[in-house]
Amino acid sequence: METKLVRMDDEHIDTVLIQEAGNIIKEGGLVAFPTETVYGLGGDALNPRSSEKIYRAKGRPSDNPLIVHIAEMADLDAVVRDVPESAKKLAEAFWPGPLTMILYKSDIVPYETTGGLDTVAVRMPVHRVARELIRAAGGYVAAPSANRSGRPSPTVAKYVTEDMDGRIEMIIDGGDVEIGLESTIVDLTAEEPVILRPGYITKQMLEQILHEVGEDCTMMRDDSGQAPKAPGMKYRHYAPKGDLTIVAGDTKRVIEYINTQTLSYRTNNKKTGVIGTDASVSLYHADVCKSVGNPDDENMIARTLYRILREFDDEHVEIIYAESFDTSGIGQAIMNRLLKAAGHKVVHV
Ligand code: TXA
Ligand code: MG
Repeated sequence: METKLVRMDDEHIDTVLIQEAGNIIKEGGLVAFPTETVYGLGGDALNPRSSEKIYRAKGRPSDNPLIVHIAEMADLDAVVRDVPESAKKLAEAFWPGPLTMILYKSDIVPYETTGGLDTVAVRMPVHRVARELIRAAGGYVAAPSANRSGRPSPTVAKYVTEDMDGRIEMIIDGGDVEIGLESTIVDLTAEEPVILRPGYITKQMLEQILHEVGEDCTMMRDDSGQAPKAPGMKYRHYAPKGDLTIVAGDTKRVIEYINTQTLSYRTNNKKTGVIGTDASVSLYHADVCKSVGNPDDENMIARTLYRILREFDDEHVEIIYAESFDTSGIGQAIMNRLLKAAGHKVVHV
């Protein structure tokens, strides 16, 4: 299949191209598009064949449900059995934006889209290209992140092309995404709302709207012995090809430890890499040293992390050490993804 690559930024929406992309989805094809979090791989959420195509293009197990993206508040009622008060409040506060809600699905949503579950994940993105595309596609777009399964989510179109070229009908290049980590997922089907995946919308922000919000205990640990409630979180995700270890502790000792380790790997002819910050990166001696940005700018770290993990792959780095980051605000989402990328391998020094 020939993949058509088009460029479009959110300030200059090309309505003819958007309609063409919308028609591809309506006819059962797939289009990758930018959102404020990461690039999505879109298909018609109400068409079971489209969802099957998404799984195939991603190489993703089909028990891992997809998020249904909408562009209008009224469309929530169509895909959800009944909308609880908590969902209305959260939608009012955070939509359009990087929040996904799990609710009981209506009959029009096929089980192929929800991975066989009676619940459905719904999100209304704020990115203009995404919203115009959803409207042009008929209102309901199933979209996982536009990466091949197991690879970091794409934050630039180059990596969508790397993973999806020849597998889907169209890629819309909207430049760099703004947030860089996937949306916060909150499950509203239990008595207490529970965060299944941390993101830009934090527990504190949710608790300003709903009183108590819990967290899935598997979010930051892997020793809880329980399966995560978001089926996708159980897979080894966001993984670079190299072997990644997080090193936590006093910065000076972290730098000493990483330098000792990378030196010994280098003498064994292994290509080594380090993920540091602007404050530390010049102090490392590995083959490839990269900064996620200013250590105090969490938003920048979030935006940079996946790109850096991909670059280590491009440069065939075999052994990677990463500093540990602060977990306040979006920092919790950063560490959740980094821990997964490292298979929870953390050394405390
Ligand atoms: O920011 C995002 O959410 C991006 C952009 C494209 O919108 N999308 C995204 O989709 O991250 P994906 O498919 O890569 O991740 C969806 C996650 C998976 O971990 C999946 O298991 C979980 O959502 N999920 C979907 N439906 C669910 C459901 N009914 N119950 C529990 N978890 C669900
Ligand atoms: Mg994903």
